[in-house]
Amino acid sequence: MEKKYVKLQTAIPGPISQELLERRNKYVPKGISNNCHSFVKKAQGALVEDVDANTYIDFAGAIGTLNVGHSHPRVVRALQEQASQFVHTGFNVMMYESYISLAERLCKLAPGDFDKQAAFFNSGAEAVENAVKIARKYTKRQGIISFTRGFHGRTLMTMTMTSKVKPYKFGFGPFAPEVYKAPYPYVYRRPEGMTEQQYNVMIIEQFEQFLLAEVAPETIAAVVMEPVQGEGGFIVPDTAFVQRVREICTQHGMLFVADEIQTGFARTGKYFAIDHFDVVPDLITISKSMGAGVPISGLIGRTEIMDAAAVGEIGGTYSGSPLGCRAALTVLDIIESEGLNDRAEKLGDRVLEKMHLLADRFEGIGDVRGLGAMCAMEIVKDRQSKTPDKEAVGKIVKAAGERGLMLLSAGLYGNVIRILMPLTITDDQLEEGLQILEEAMEAVYLNDSALSVGGE
Ligand SMILES: Cc1ncc(COP(=O)(O)O)c(C=O)c1O
Repeated sequence: MEKKYVKLQTAIPGPISQELLERRNKYVPKGISNNCHSFVKKAQGALVEDVDANTYIDFAGAIGTLNVGHSHPRVVRALQEQASQFVHTGFNVMMYESYISLAERLCKLAPGDFDKQAAFFNSGAEAVENAVKIARKYTKRQGIISFTRGFHGRTLMTMTMTSKVKPYKFGFGPFAPEVYKAPYPYVYRRPEGMTEQQYNVMIIEQFEQFLLAEVAPETIAAVVMEPVQGEGGFIVPDTAFVQRVREICTQHGMLFVADEIQTGFARTGKYFAIDHFDVVPDLITISKSMGAGVPISGLIGRTEIMDAAAVGEIGGTYSGSPLGCRAALTVLDIIESEGLNDRAEKLGDRVLEKMHLLADRFEGIGDVRGLGAMCAMEIVKDRQSKTPDKEAVGKIVKAAGERGLMLLSAGLYGNVIRILMPLTITDDQLEEGLQILEEAMEAVYLNDSALSVGGE
């Protein structure tokens, strides 16, 4: 099919990218992975142009960082203006108004009818680290509960809280003490013969048992939960589960921390995904799309908890930088004025509709799921055994890339295709991207005899 947006002038990666790749391989360690082997020249909205003049549609959005799209003109203007005034003073040296405005706006937007405060940092992992520090200080307890398949970052504490051993933890121990992993629902992989309802009841019981068998709740400072698991494979938990965990937290004085780093800023059709579950967290971690590509993260929470750290105990040299704060304020303006929460709902509906159509064609699609515009398909060898098919996902992602669609995988088994396109993508661009996804799947399933061929 003739493409309106994707323009491929060379094979992917092109010759200039290949030259850069050689230099990259010589001077940059392989531990830093690269989804695409091309190098970007410029990007705007949902389109990315590489150094060989190939244009791609972006369904990766810098791993959920670009809900407002690449180089949104209002973000660019705000950054230019900020850079021309001052780049950095260090908030703990001389303060600036944008930090305060950002804290004020986020405290007003975050769920909970109580006094809140916000503090800013650089990366998602750093926000989670600070949630742990503050929760410990406030509760005077040490234990932290995270969940199986959860992802919280790559620093020592957040790597410990993260669940996937390879590549995130293997060989990097010893890990931080006092971190416990609780079960998180995964309804697609429930035991055979069990209804969804029975399974959801069982997982709640397992969580309650976990507090008897593994760790005493009165030693736990915080339970850190992704409202929808991101790296874990876009797994949406049952509302009753999230609400029951919240109740148990309240009962035992454990803080409930929502890690909204991947789910926040309109991705699921709300500013905070936890609002879908009618649950009010004590603390919320945010980052990624908050800064539209400028590194910034934050922690929002009850004032009495946030204020538990004494002067000088939290913060950092670049934490909540002026550029990050200005970018984040502009992101909030854009979400509001461009109606990106509603847009996320509409985009999500269309993506899920298309994924269901693809599932009618390709037996390898075992599950289609999502919340708002956080949509994914789980790829399996066959629908009966549900054996994860990581190899097929690798081939689909590669085939999509060669056709000009930037796509990401996810999941404990690496067998999930997730979509994190900018919410500012146009309808036409979305359709072209979905068409390429279908073509990539055709190439893998219909032309590759090594893989199961679909068609029911
Ligand atoms: C839910 C969640 N928490 C924390 C992080 C870590 O963020 P960063 O990579 O900015 O440290 C991520 C990153 O993917 C994430 O998805």
